[in-house]
Amino acid sequence: MLSVANPYTPNAGASPENVVGRDEHLEAFRILLQRLSRGRTNQSMIITGLRGVGKTVLLTEFNEIAREGKWEVIELEANKHDESQFRRRMASSMKASLLRLSPRKLWSEIGQRAAAAISAFAVSVDQAGTWSLSWDVEAAEGFADHGDLAMDLSDVLVALGEAARERGRGVAILIDEIQFLSQPQLEAVIQAVHKTVQRALPVTMVGAGLPQIAELAGDARSYAERLFRFPKIDSLGPDDAKKAITDPAEAEGVTIQDDAVDLMLEITRGYPFFIQELGYQVWEISEASPITREDVELARDAYEAKLDESFFRVRLDRSTPLQTAYMRAMAELGPEPQKASEVARIMGRESTQLGPTRAELIDMGLLYTPEHGYAAFTVPDFDKYMMRAVPQLVVPPVQQRTRRSAARAQQRSES
Ligand SMILES: Nc1ncnc2c1ncn2[C@@H]1O[C@H](COP(=O)(O)OP(=O)(O)OP(=O)(O)O)[C@@H](O)[C@H]1O
Ligand SMILES: [Mg+2]
Repeated sequence: MLSVANPYTPNAGASPENVVGRDEHLEAFRILLQRLSRGRTNQSMIITGLRGVGKTVLLTEFNEIAREGKWEVIELEANKHDESQFRRRMASSMKASLLRLSPRKLWSEIGQRAAAAISAFAVSVDQAGTWSLSWDVEAAEGFADHGDLAMDLSDVLVALGEAARERGRGVAILIDEIQFLSQPQLEAVIQAVHKTVQRALPVTMVGAGLPQIAELAGDARSYAERLFRFPKIDSLGPDDAKKAITDPAEAEGVTIQDDAVDLMLEITRGYPFFIQELGYQVWEISEASPITREDVELARDAYEAKLDESFFRVRLDRSTPLQTAYMRAMAELGPEPQKASEVARIMGRESTQLGPTRAELIDMGLLYTPEHGYAAFTVPDFDKYMMRAVPQLVVPPVQQRTRRSAARAQQRSES
């Protein structure tokens, strides 16, 4: 059928024709904003899920809901950048938000105070002055200029929250790939949100990321438990998956026969990314409506080849031979979370020797630790791909490391 009319969206973050199966989370977000608007408190959310289940798409929906409700949205994709980049992006987004909340000429004392706080926050990005917010607002003194990210972010977010409240508005911070925030960054965000909650300000933060257990320390941990819920999103149940398969075609006036839908369900097991990719390939191969089971069978090879070439391979391409061997050994043990000692046994090594490799893979977002001592793939069906792509387990010699870097990596891998 016509490629230009192909309604499927097999791209990271691409919003599908119909976002199915996420009503509960969308409703929770609406309630969260409404309660905060009324000066009430409500737990926010950090949404976790594997690669390709629809976290970014859900955040995009949240973004729309927030904007419809006249909330200011600060969007951030965490990117393992250093602290100054995080500050820069926060500072520029907060500046833009403040200007949208109220034009500069109309700033009240509260608006001016927020602007001075944002300037102070930006100044402590780099004292050398190689970067500035390019507005001539004098930085506040003794406010958002402590040089401590958690304190500064708290000050500036409280000031911005007050400016938003004055205008009858709110500020929602949406952070994607939240597992890539450094520990100090995550702790700072949590503490800052805690401060705004204490003052019942219309400010919230919603995160989305891999189901990695955050290693939060001290106060941040207890705040996080009170401030956030941690809903998991996963593959779609059969009814939702059916809708995700048929809705886009129907919107183009094309039907899919029931036995064809059944086969598509079986192949994709309800994973949103797989549904979009298979839907796309089936559409390309089919000649006319209705789409038949035979069309799906014909499209299957192209679908698998496409997944291998893109979705799976990009992850493997970035890996060293030792990292590849580690994932291949895990795959041999199956799709479930695997014990570090078992993986080491398959590789004929001690798990202490492999600790650094495991830690690197977690750091890269390829593995996560569902519970202490275990690791699993963050990409659905990655185990099967590894068995296909690397038929033979080849373990390269473990490189000598300095004792200190090995100890550091070991510490991370034990988390
Ligand atoms: N509720 C949904 N119904 C149908 N398709 C969806 C749904 N949510 C997401 N998708 C589709 O699934 C794919 C993955 O979505 P998205 O990029 O949001 O996933 P993700 O969880 O953010 O993945 P990653 O961890 O790789 O960033 C996209 O092709 C998107 O169109
Ligand atoms: Mg995403």
